[in-house]
Amino acid sequence: MSLAPDVFAQRRARFFQALGGAAAVIPAAPLVTHHADCEWPFRQNSDFWYLTGFDEPDAVALFLPHRPEGERFVLFVQPKEPSAEVWMGFRWGCEGAVERFGADLAHPREELAERLADYLRGAEGIAFRVGKHPEVEPHVLQAWAGQLDRAPRSGTAALGLVAPCPLLHALRLRKSPEEIARMREAARISAEAHELARQVARPGLNERQVQGVIEQHFLEQGARGPAYGSIVAGGDNACVLHYTANNAVLKDGDLLLIDAGCSLNDYYNGDITRTFPINGRFSAEQRALYDLVLAAQEAAVAVVAPGQTAEGVHDTAVRVLVEGLVDLGLLRGEVDGIIEQGAYRHLYMHRTGHWLGLDVHDVGAYRLGEHHVALETGMVLTVEPGLYVSDRLPVPEGQPEIEARWKGIGIRIEDDVAVTDHGHENLTAAALKAPAALER
Ligand code: GLY
Ligand code: MN
Ligand code: MN
Repeated sequence: MSLAPDVFAQRRARFFQALGGAAAVIPAAPLVTHHADCEWPFRQNSDFWYLTGFDEPDAVALFLPHRPEGERFVLFVQPKEPSAEVWMGFRWGCEGAVERFGADLAHPREELAERLADYLRGAEGIAFRVGKHPEVEPHVLQAWAGQLDRAPRSGTAALGLVAPCPLLHALRLRKSPEEIARMREAARISAEAHELARQVARPGLNERQVQGVIEQHFLEQGARGPAYGSIVAGGDNACVLHYTANNAVLKDGDLLLIDAGCSLNDYYNGDITRTFPINGRFSAEQRALYDLVLAAQEAAVAVVAPGQTAEGVHDTAVRVLVEGLVDLGLLRGEVDGIIEQGAYRHLYMHRTGHWLGLDVHDVGAYRLGEHHVALETGMVLTVEPGLYVSDRLPVPEGQPEIEARWKGIGIRIEDDVAVTDHGHENLTAAALKAPAALER
């Protein structure tokens, strides 16, 4: 099941409304070199994908509200060419762009330079993201410069160059029921992979053998693969937030932190973290910190509802963590003061979550100036507090030195949570996290 073509048409209709009289130029992603002449598997630009559902590199989409009906959605694509397709695979070409992807008109990509200025003439502005698309940007700037040069004689106002991001990303931030269904599917596969990983993990296994189990499940289930570099981090490696080396042997007595999620063919993503004892039994210190992170995570998930903010979710988690750390003697002082001074950040140094969607760290504002964006039905965010006890960061003045028995414990618990009319839906609840489910 993937998204029907009319979903993309509806998105374009909403984008046109948001653009008003401005034209938009939205490029596809290029292929990216891995090394020498080998390329990474293709990953489409999420903005381009959101509006077109077209999964080929080097295309460009034009949205032209100032043009007559039947000329408003124009795609520039790589034309069909057997000698290229025999190396790189099937292309839809110009005909496919029209028939299959709903373009009003389609041209070979190499004609962009000569046609762009004409298409943009008469628009009230150009929506284009400067600084991200070096292959397309010179053509847009040239068209814009031409408009500015002609303005005194043509008598028409010079175009403004504006960013499409605020308009487009406000749309992407609020997921439709169809999108939520796709995210449920990404969550299902990702949660199953975590359950499998816990079943196989044992002392003596290498981290990357567990990574293999997880990513094999993603592929078996028809996903593209991991949504981001899977983190499989035994013991102290879990205290490195972006650990992706995944090449250490799992030790008896350590915890294993796994942060992994799949990306579907239509690019919706899961993003789950679970932490559990490799030998099936928590030590007293591991259990104390695990219970604390779980309490913080459950409290933060519980407040997700329309009208709440991502900031409020974060604050909820931080308060539970700091109260618990004071009780355990890992922090000292009055809770409000510790929070205000950030005197807990040597133990918890990241935010509690982010928007999730076509990008893992999805687009959309968290705040507009001083105003924190309120959660609404259809927004999806991760809730992922953690604690990381190591010597990497200095203990803030006035806070206790950490006893050796706590060190090398890194814990994060992360769920993907959709905001609903009356609260929230935890999309990743099938990945178990209660201590009783993790022990054997
Ligand atoms: N896996 C990336 C993150 O949790 O933000
Ligand atoms: Mn994650
Ligand atoms: Mn995350």
